[in-house]
Amino acid sequence: MLATTSRGQPIVYLDSAATSQKPNVVLEAMDEFYRTSNANIHRGVYEASERATLAYDGSRDTVARFLGGVPADEVIFVRGTTEAINLVANSFLKPRIKPGDIVLVTEMEHHANIVPWQLAGARTVPIPVTDAGELDMAAAERLLAQGCAMLALCHVSNAIGTINPIAELCAMAKRHGVPVLVDGAQAVGHLLVDVQQLGCDFYCFSGHKVYGPTGSGVLWGKQEHLSAMPPWQGGGDMIDLVSFERTTFAPSPRKFEAGTPDIAGVIGLDVALNWLMGQDRQGIAVHEATLLDFGRWTLEQVEGVKLIASPRDNVGILTFTVDGAHPHDVASLLDQAGICVRAGHHCTQPLHRRFDLDASVRASIGPYNTRADIESLGIGLRRVQEVFA
Ligand SMILES: Cc1ncc(COP(=O)(O)O)c(C=O)c1O
Repeated sequence: MLATTSRGQPIVYLDSAATSQKPNVVLEAMDEFYRTSNANIHRGVYEASERATLAYDGSRDTVARFLGGVPADEVIFVRGTTEAINLVANSFLKPRIKPGDIVLVTEMEHHANIVPWQLAGARTVPIPVTDAGELDMAAAERLLAQGCAMLALCHVSNAIGTINPIAELCAMAKRHGVPVLVDGAQAVGHLLVDVQQLGCDFYCFSGHKVYGPTGSGVLWGKQEHLSAMPPWQGGGDMIDLVSFERTTFAPSPRKFEAGTPDIAGVIGLDVALNWLMGQDRQGIAVHEATLLDFGRWTLEQVEGVKLIASPRDNVGILTFTVDGAHPHDVASLLDQAGICVRAGHHCTQPLHRRFDLDASVRASIGPYNTRADIESLGIGLRRVQEVFA
């Protein structure tokens, strides 16, 4: 956990939506791997390599449990959410896409869930977001009925924290024969996720947002899809037989994991997920919801601070503007007090346009935050308000 700035001030970390801080057990496991078992996987017959292979492959079981008890061979390790979505766009969508095909997204998507579909040749059409920051479900039904190749949407919005009604949307999509990818980047750290109960076809997340290391991430997909999808990247470890005339591939998940993966990252992710599953998830959820309510109240007390959207179901995020102050200036002034928040469009330009904004300030909450952190944010914002009043 970050402790102090280079100026020696205590850090108030309110940027967990960008990346979470890591528990000691994660740091220790990665350090131990490099010190005691560092070897490449799947290739060596010596003990360290076998240990590394067991640890790497064993991590699939942990992810499978974390996602509600799916078969471990439906779990593919990737670098993060962005790579997972690019994999599905290239390997699932691209081979079947026809000119003019639409991928239905939402107005609140992160760019990582817009651009890969466009690069794969699709037209992205958004489900609109209401003033409250929720999906317009009637429009979703209408757009699905009009036909699309795929529905791709976030479980939780990184910009405004909305929890989308994924099970309802998946059921709707199923009625129209539309496969669904869910971007779980902002959800897995806050919500219990059971992908089979949600009813989606693909679910993905980044390790670094769920208390694990950067460079680790997961794509889960239904076996019926994964078996039929061609590999996206070629190289070592994903093949069955190679000749100059023709190559055959290993079954999924290995056919999607070309080259040496981030072995230490996957081991760190395994430990992070086990750590999280060992916590009182309900207790964390209550703690975060209490801080969020207190955060809303605190911000409402500061003149000139305007919260963006107020979705009924939301987690972890306070997004706002301050009258007369550019979000970057707000974040810089808060930084002078050791308070870490994010300023900008948070990779959601379309959502910001929807709310007539170029940028905003985002404070996001993790289980390690305290009431005192929120009070510091309130004090910092009062100072910002004085400077810009
Ligand atoms: C909702 C959402 N999707 C996708 C991403 C991209 O994640 P990564 O950069 O870890 O691949 C993020 C990151 O902020 C996100 O919040």
